[in-house]
Amino acid sequence: MAVRDVLTIGDPRLRLVSAPVQRFDDPALPALLQDLRDTMAATNGAGLAAPQISVPLRVVIFGLTHNPRYPEAAPIPETVLINPELTPLGEEIDDGAWEGCLSVPGWRALVPRWRCLHYRAFDPAGRPFERQVEGFHARVVQHECDHLDGVLFPDRMPAGLPRG
Ligand code: NI
Repeated sequence: MAVRDVLTIGDPRLRLVSAPVQRFDDPALPALLQDLRDTMAATNGAGLAAPQISVPLRVVIFGLTHNPRYPEAAPIPETVLINPELTPLGEEIDDGAWEGCLSVPGWRALVPRWRCLHYRAFDPAGRPFERQVEGFHARVVQHECDHLDGVLFPDRMPAGLPRG
């Protein structure tokens, strides 16, 4: 379909809380998914959320084969999550991976994320599914789903310590 422009930080549309998908038979849905796929491929992203291409719906896509932006990460199958719900498993925090975002160009940061996660969502056909994941896969899901609530990774960075 089309490679779409990715909004960048400062654009107020990145700060909206997106709405759930109501109808899985809407022809706009496969068109949106193809645009997300095309845009992610063209930008070497590991994931992309619909609000990043100006569509305020709770839809994300992610996947990783070999990605030059994340050369050391294990592969993740291409996955579409519609109306996702995340539940952290355990208390463990992972803060040892550099994170970037197509909407925050030129910046990387060590962002704390839950290490283990259960998620449930609907697939493009409207079927519910769930997974339990950890590590980079869990990180990507948390990052992408944050976009659905208007949250960008700099919001998740720990506050700096005062000088003293
Ligand atoms: Ni992002």
